[in-house]
Amino acid sequence: MSHKITLTQFLIEQQRGLPDASGTFTLLLNNIVTACKKISHLVNRGELIGVLGSAESENIQGEIQKKLDIITNDIMVNELNWTGHLAGMASEEIDDPIKIPDQYPKGKYLLLFDPLDGSSNIDVNLAVGTIFSILRCREGIHPDVQDFLQKGAEQVCAGFVLYGPSTMMVLTTGHGVNAFTLDQDIGEFILTHCNMQIPETTSEFAINMSNQRFWEAPVQRYIEDCVRGNDGVSDKNYNMRWIASLVADVYRILTRGGVFLYPLDTRNPSKPAKLRLMYEANPMGFIIEQAGGLCSTGRERILNIKPDSIHQRVPVILGSKQEVERIMQYHQQG
Ligand code: AHG
Ligand code: MN
Ligand code: MN
Ligand code: MN
Repeated sequence: MSHKITLTQFLIEQQRGLPDASGTFTLLLNNIVTACKKISHLVNRGELIGVLGSAESENIQGEIQKKLDIITNDIMVNELNWTGHLAGMASEEIDDPIKIPDQYPKGKYLLLFDPLDGSSNIDVNLAVGTIFSILRCREGIHPDVQDFLQKGAEQVCAGFVLYGPSTMMVLTTGHGVNAFTLDQDIGEFILTHCNMQIPETTSEFAINMSNQRFWEAPVQRYIEDCVRGNDGVSDKNYNMRWIASLVADVYRILTRGGVFLYPLDTRNPSKPAKLRLMYEANPMGFIIEQAGGLCSTGRERILNIKPDSIHQRVPVILGSKQEVERIMQYHQQG
C-alpha cells in the first residue's frame, strides 16, 4: 500500500529544512485545520442541524449575515484564541481586530480570515470555503490596527479550504502551492495536488455580468472582446464561468487556468469594489502568484498595496499570467 502524506507530515518536513523554525507555525496550522474540519462537518450537515438561512444581523461590510457566517467565525475564534501562537486576529465578520483573551499567552503571528466565503451560496448547496492569511507580529504585544496593515507581500502563509464535493485545503508558505484532500474516514488532509501550476494562457473568464454597466472602460472593452471572440479582435472564442464563491472560482483557475475579475464599480464611490484586500485578495494573490499566475487591480500588483484599513476593498483581476497581462494592457490604454 502506498504511503500517503498527511498535511502534518508535509508541514513538519517542509519546516524542518528552515533555519529558524520552532514548530510554532506547524502547530498554528494544525489548529486552523481543526477549525476547518469542524466547519466542513457543519456545512455538510446543513439543514439537518438547522444551520442554514440568514441571521438578523449585518456585518461591517453592510452584508446581511448568514447564520453560518456567525457560527464559522466563532469556530475560528474559539479554536485559535487560546493557542498561544497568535498575537491577534481579524475577520471579515468583526468590526475591530479580535483580541487574544488576557488569560492566554500571545504569540508571534497574526491571523486574518474570511470564515465563510461564498456564503450567499450556502442555502443553495453550492461550494463555499474559508480563506486565511498569516502575518508576523512583534512578539508579546497587544497589536493594534496598524500592526495588521501589512502588504500582502509580507504574508508568511495563505490558504483556503474549499467545502465542495471534496473538502480541500490549498496552501502556500511561499514555496509553491500544494493542495490536500480531506479523507473523511481518518479525518486527515492528504497531499493530493503537488506544486500546482496555472496554465499561462486561457480562454475562460469569470465575471458577474450583471454589473457590466458599472465597470470602467478597460474592463468593458476586454469583456466585449472576449464575448465577440474570433468575430472580433480576438484569435479565439471564450467560455464563461461564475460560481460566486471566490474559493471555487480560484480553485478552478488553479486547476485548469482562467481569469477572474471583480473590477472597480463606479456605482457608489464609498464602495468602489467588492472584495476585501486582507481576507480575500491578499491570500488569493499570494496563492495565485505562487502557482505562476498574476493578481492585480488592473493597475498595480495586489500584494504591493499598503492597506489603509483592515476592511479595505480592492478591484481584483487574477489568474493565468498572459491573460492578466493583457487586461493590464487594456488598463494602460485607459
Ligand atoms: P463572502 O461570501 O465572503 O461575503 O464573499 C463573497 C464574494 C466572493 O466569494 C465572490 O467571488 C463574490 O463575493 C460574489 O459576488 P456577487 O454576489 O456580486 O456575484
Ligand atoms: Mn460576506
Ligand atoms: Mn468572501
Ligand atoms: Mn465571508
